Amino acid sequence: MKYPSVFLLAILVWTACSPSVQPEVALVPQPAQLQVKGGFFALSPATQLLRSDGGRFDAEAAFLQSTLVEMLGEEITAQAGGNVLELVYSQDLTQAESYQLEVGRDRVSLIAGDAAGMFYAMETLRQLMPADLEGEGTAPEILIPELSISDAPSIAWRGMHLDVSRHFFSMDYLHRYVDLLALYKMNKLHLHLTDDQGWRLEIKKYPRLTEESAWRTFNNQDSVCIEKAKEDPRFQLDPKHLRERDGVTEYGGFYTQEEMRELVRYAQSRHIEIIPEIDMPGHMMAAIQVYPELACTGSAGWGKVFSTPLCPGNEQVYEFVEGVLTEVMDIFPSKYIHIGADEVEKSSWEESKACQALMAAEGMSSVEELQSYFVNRVTGFIKSKGKEVIVWDDAIHPGVDSTLYVMYWRNWAGGVQNRVANNGNPMIYTPGNPMYFSRLDAQMYPIYHFEFFGSKYPEDKKHLAYGLQACVWTETVPSEDLADAIIFPKLLALSERAWSPREVHDWDGFKERLQSQLKRLDQLGVKYTYEVTKELTPFLKVDTVKQEIGVILESELVKPTIYYTTDGTEPTTASERYEGEFHVSGSVTVKAAIFENGQIQEPVLSRKVDYHQAIGKKVTYHKPWNTAYPAGDAGSFTDGLRGGNANGDGKWQGFTNDIDVTVDMGKVQELHTFSASFLQNIGPGIYMPDSVIVSVSVDGKDFEQVLQVANEVPKDQKGLVFADFAGSMGNVQARYIHVRAVNGNRAFIFSDELVIN
Ligand code: ACM
Repeated sequence: MKYPSVFLLAILVWTACSPSVQPEVALVPQPAQLQVKGGFFALSPATQLLRSDGGRFDAEAAFLQSTLVEMLGEEITAQAGGNVLELVYSQDLTQAESYQLEVGRDRVSLIAGDAAGMFYAMETLRQLMPADLEGEGTAPEILIPELSISDAPSIAWRGMHLDVSRHFFSMDYLHRYVDLLALYKMNKLHLHLTDDQGWRLEIKKYPRLTEESAWRTFNNQDSVCIEKAKEDPRFQLDPKHLRERDGVTEYGGFYTQEEMRELVRYAQSRHIEIIPEIDMPGHMMAAIQVYPELACTGSAGWGKVFSTPLCPGNEQVYEFVEGVLTEVMDIFPSKYIHIGADEVEKSSWEESKACQALMAAEGMSSVEELQSYFVNRVTGFIKSKGKEVIVWDDAIHPGVDSTLYVMYWRNWAGGVQNRVANNGNPMIYTPGNPMYFSRLDAQMYPIYHFEFFGSKYPEDKKHLAYGLQACVWTETVPSEDLADAIIFPKLLALSERAWSPREVHDWDGFKERLQSQLKRLDQLGVKYTYEVTKELTPFLKVDTVKQEIGVILESELVKPTIYYTTDGTEPTTASERYEGEFHVSGSVTVKAAIFENGQIQEPVLSRKVDYHQAIGKKVTYHKPWNTAYPAGDAGSFTDGLRGGNANGDGKWQGFTNDIDVTVDMGKVQELHTFSASFLQNIGPGIYMPDSVIVSVSVDGKDFEQVLQVANEVPKDQKGLVFADFAGSMGNVQARYIHVRAVNGNRAFIFSDELVIN
């Protein structure tokens, strides 16, 4: 009996002395170097704050104390006696924003060479404190795990965006957004302040912009939201942004200059630069509605695709733009001013006498050059005030200034990235896929694994990649809760992708740390959605030595239970359990799914995997692929990697002419079977070929037809349809295989992998 009672006493004593919360290390973004040791530091109001920073970090010290008041209930002391938390300036930490954090048993040292680095050391320290303390409660003592961190960002521009024009967001929401961005070491906030649907910034010279253009009666996007709100209250228009005027309900709002100046100061204290965007010459309908003389047509309107823009042939437009920008630059001290320049409907310029006269005088032959003239002229004005200018990638037309910073967003349009690179502009990457956050379910894998450069991106232009950013467009995001749900937790995947060096990227580790961060977000009142898809993403690794293909299955879930088959049957719990990469040879169909409580979860992955005779063999293209859908260029038909379940997955090669290629098998051999996969998706204009014709040759000159397969998929069949055009090649002896897929629709055909055995 003696032993157990002593043991019990020990537990009681330990419990009484220990704080309610235990230390955990689950940081996002993951630091560049992290070494966790065994013990902990007991932080309490008796901890002494020591300053060895020569007063450099006063603002950060105040931020730390305010964080500690939230966590401990009071500030830590200047008095000696307890353990020590010190802020240290070190001139050895020369990389901007870098820091070290040493947590020992008696001393915590936050070391930095600049204020941003010191701030990030504090945000890291905060994440080492229990998530519970982000909420209402405090603890008199907090155990901080003993560790050593050395950290620095891998990307200088780590941005988030918010469109406050399509729907308006309160000042409170913007402050909270800044706080959350800072918690995850993001350092740019791009505010899309103006667009067709509303002008949100007070401009004293043009008061009607906010008196009138900040308000609207419900538009068609609001109607979509109102309809959706019947199912999901997050789509309700926020009643705090409604007003009654002359018996009419109007929706909108704007920020006064004073409010924005205050937000800028607040963001600065959290080392976030706010970049204002005034979108021009297009997306200007809200302004043109009250100042119609700014359009060539003299009225606000809608062209073929986009709204009627400002008129670059009208000098009054430059007076307006410069008037607006002068006030904008006075409010926002940012190094950068964003002038949009995306999606400009130029038809009114073609018909405008003023524009035609300007073009003739300046020797311009196209309205695209006129757009460059406008962009360059406005850029000149902004640069004369010592600022840099940002535009969307649509602005890159012949003759445009190569010192503009370009936001690359149209990754779905061919060749844009290379066109910008060849013009020499630094690029901030906000590619629509995956960096436009719009889905409610959490698809973080593509964000976390984002690659800047495709295979055809020139090596000597890689230095032009300047930043990484995600955008939140709010056409159908009318509430703060819905914005939260779209932004979080995807922001955390972006944060780690943008901050942490590639060597420490760890998808499985991230998903586990995320679980702890979700608790923090809960406490902070963030209404995130963590509806994780049960989709599996397959990765194939072709091994030409062993003549096999390695299959890796990735998921958004933490440590999911996966079963798979390679014989085409539906997986069950009696199938092979996935424990990591497995290998297949020959042609197989891999079927795999996540299982929960023994039940198969949708969707079931089905992927043909072929180690076939033509892998790695040379393919000559007699007609080109469409540059928007290059897949893996000339190697993609014989790389062993079949296209997946989306036409934009980067594996499908797209053609707007016939496919007309010859595969060289390297030597004469017996040819048995042929198969090529095609995809139909008539929404974006992708059809099956009318037929596929295969001919073979021994010498590459005389060809003999061995196979013709006709299309059997109806041309009006909607949705994604996949079909294999396959058959026997009759065991002929040949070296060259000519493949022609007849494009009978003058639209896209998408194909992948010529499987030859
Ligand atoms: C954009 O999405 N129009 C830049």
